[in-house]
Amino acid sequence: MTGGIAAYKSVELLRRLKTMGAEVRVVMTASAREFVGPLTFEALSGHPVQTEMFSKEAASPIPHIALAHWPDLVVIAPATANTIGRIASGLADDLLSAVVMASTAPVLLAPAMETDMYRNPIVTENLSRLRGLGYRTVGPGTGFLASGGEGIGRMSEPEEIADAVLDTLTSTEEFAGRRFVVTAGRTEEDIDPVRFLTNRSTGKMGYAVAECARRRGAEVTLVSGPTELSAPPGVEVVKVRSVAQMREAVVVAFPETDVLVMAAAVLDFRARQVATSKIKKTGAGLTLELAPTGDFLVELGKIKGEQILVGFAMETENGVANAQKKLEAKNLDLIVLNDLTVEGAGFAVDTNVVTLIDRDGAAQDLPKMSKREVADRILDRVKEKLKGK
Ligand SMILES: Cc1cc2nc3c(=O)[nH]c(=O)nc-3n(C[C@H](O)[C@H](O)[C@H](O)COP(=O)(O)O)c2cc1C
Repeated sequence: MTGGIAAYKSVELLRRLKTMGAEVRVVMTASAREFVGPLTFEALSGHPVQTEMFSKEAASPIPHIALAHWPDLVVIAPATANTIGRIASGLADDLLSAVVMASTAPVLLAPAMETDMYRNPIVTENLSRLRGLGYRTVGPGTGFLASGGEGIGRMSEPEEIADAVLDTLTSTEEFAGRRFVVTAGRTEEDIDPVRFLTNRSTGKMGYAVAECARRRGAEVTLVSGPTELSAPPGVEVVKVRSVAQMREAVVVAFPETDVLVMAAAVLDFRARQVATSKIKKTGAGLTLELAPTGDFLVELGKIKGEQILVGFAMETENGVANAQKKLEAKNLDLIVLNDLTVEGAGFAVDTNVVTLIDRDGAAQDLPKMSKREVADRILDRVKEKLKGK
């Protein structure tokens, strides 16, 4: 921990890490101790908080080396502009920076500072240098800042940092050299300049697939419809709105793609005529004629070579039979069936209840699990299918 206002949030981070089953030791810079006392951290971690490089009371004669060798991961939360700069410059003049310098464990930084400090080109360059050297970062987020202002610079919430910890610890290279295109979220089709058709998809499932594929070593392009979600780290995001735009982005990327996961909720219909000016309210009803948008997954299924195509089906009745038909008709390798009638499945929730259906017709029901876990189970199947390709 370094000396920033966000240090108080690290209590919650520590609690979360402990709940996840982690063993944690806390190192504070001298400045961090100005913001929060060590007692809570000692009680929650079960170990004394360490700050001094040259302490007579330290358990080990060379504390920074003992600490550097101990962890699987070093998390610096909050990470001040000062400490980021010191690490980027290779300094090791206090316990925290010496531990980082001497450790071979991955390092995750959660930057936290005022917007102007964060935007300072020196800080930007230091962070970019560290990322280039393999340091990972989470955040910062945007919102209210301690100064009373609003902007980018807030330390990520403890939950997000804990997720990034898990991601860092579980990242692999199993999809190294593989290119994934993942579509996510809803699409929108205009009716007139102010109104449009859409659906309830939030993009959570597709974002989870993109994030997990990246964490497992793939090069990932995420073609995303409108969503509130922030881009997963290391993933290239192409933002689209209409079905035609999503089709264009996917078709362009397809020849270089090994795996296409179509998690987006692509609209089936669009207004046959888009009015060029706002349709007036007349007091009478309005009949809107809809035309099909065209299913570009069918097109891609026809031209696919070695590529693996994964589709999603959202059904409210005869789920498995309808999903199997869809898999055949679109020449997919795997289809993920969401049953909207089950609690914990579908839109806007963090969990999903799905059935994975293969080309050979085998259907595997998965229990209710987080969308990330579902993403990993889908990717486990994709991995099997990529074998030998
Ligand atoms: C009230 C107060 C709040 C501060 N908040 C931050 C902060 O959020 N981020 C930051 O980079 N520096 C912040 N600073 C400045 C750092 O504490 C200062 O740069 C210090 O030298 C950092 O030391 P360290 O990186 O060794 O912990 C703050 C200073 C004060 C007095």
